[in-house]
Amino acid sequence: MGDVEVDRNRSLELVISSVVAQNEQGNNEERLMSVETVMAKMPIYLDNHATTPMDPRVFEAMTPYFLGSFGNAASRNHAFGWVAEKAVETAREQIAALIGANSKEIVFTSGATESDNIAIKGVIEMYAEKGNHIITAKTEHKAVLDTCKYLERLGKAEVTYLDPDTDGRISVESIQAAITDKTVLIAVMAANNEIGTIAPLKEIGALAKEKGIFFFTDAAQAVGRIPLDVNELGIDIMAISGHKIYGPKGIGALYVRRRRPRVRLTPVIHGGGHERGMRSGTLPVPLCVGLGKACEIAGAEMEEENKRIIALREKLHQGILEKLDYVSLNGHPEHRLPNNLNISFAYVEGEGLMMAMKDLAVSSGSACTSASLEPSYVLKALGVGDELAHSSIRYGLGRFTTEEEIDFAITQSVEAVSKLREMSPLYEMAQEGIDLATVQWQVPHE
Ligand SMILES: Cc1ncc(COP(=O)(O)O)c(C=O)c1O
Repeated sequence: MGDVEVDRNRSLELVISSVVAQNEQGNNEERLMSVETVMAKMPIYLDNHATTPMDPRVFEAMTPYFLGSFGNAASRNHAFGWVAEKAVETAREQIAALIGANSKEIVFTSGATESDNIAIKGVIEMYAEKGNHIITAKTEHKAVLDTCKYLERLGKAEVTYLDPDTDGRISVESIQAAITDKTVLIAVMAANNEIGTIAPLKEIGALAKEKGIFFFTDAAQAVGRIPLDVNELGIDIMAISGHKIYGPKGIGALYVRRRRPRVRLTPVIHGGGHERGMRSGTLPVPLCVGLGKACEIAGAEMEEENKRIIALREKLHQGILEKLDYVSLNGHPEHRLPNNLNISFAYVEGEGLMMAMKDLAVSSGSACTSASLEPSYVLKALGVGDELAHSSIRYGLGRFTTEEEIDFAITQSVEAVSKLREMSPLYEMAQEGIDLATVQWQVPHE
């Protein structure tokens, strides 16, 4: 942990000094040059599941709404309000168009975390008389898991946390087997943020409809990356995040079905009754515009973009497999996000691996909690052992990933793993054909 911390502090210092330098530079050209210098020193960004850089077209669409067109979309009496309201409604339509919804079914939120909270708490409160049982999965995002645990603690909900299969999929059969006469909500994410596995959404949607249970899906990673049609898939409630799809941070949306069946949600935030009472608070107009534009671009370009990203992802995967042995893929080989590659490198130590890959901004299979490095709970749920989970890397490609960056990522990954394995007695033993599972390790006396 110590070395990782030092590395993090060094990067932080670099960024802070560059921001100060930018502010001190006299003209725009010099400012741009200092941005370029920083970017040149920064690692290559392959962490597009954590967040994506904003698309310049999104930024451009947002800018008028920060200064001149600053009105409150809820102001009904003057042109400032009307202009803001029009911009917000256009954004709502753009979001709805991407997912096959009606714009009246889109509620703006601050992001997918809030959307997850509203969806789960909102259903449990609104339909308390009908039932209190939620079916979800162990591999869900914390925004779903912690919300469920909170409701359990309050005694408001009973929750079943399903196990995925070894590829990270939740089977429809396991959902069916968990349904009781108190089940009001199935909460299964569209695509997993660590391993990229895509859920059998259509089958789950059909089951939910047949049983009269609401189907909620956290689609923060899936919207804009794979085609999603809420009607075709039978989705009743869906969480969307702006910053995962080249939009701004601090904005998201919740799709809430209005017909067959109509979903009603008790609000989490009370106030002026904005967003049809489901989420009060003055809308951040520039952010709404940004999310709308991001959705419009995703809809128009997804197909072509995915071809390019899949080709790059396959190049990365094959490039690593050609040079390294004992590499295993985490997540489903086919039902996975185009931009996700999550692999475990056996016989290397996790922290050393991250250090050796310092020129790549990737994510490790360890979650850093306050005191220790815990192996990822998602990988653990798949049955990946602690050691392998620690030495797993999530590569998240994106719209702006280039072929040169992928070539570099292959080289650096191969070099890092090879170097660490040179020092690994376990790797040597494995190569000699010794079955490590049968080795009797000597345990030192206390
Ligand atoms: C699947 C999933 N759900 C929810 C979130 C939270 O999204 P936001 O940052 O918009 O609150 C994320 C982001 O990490 C995610 O990947």
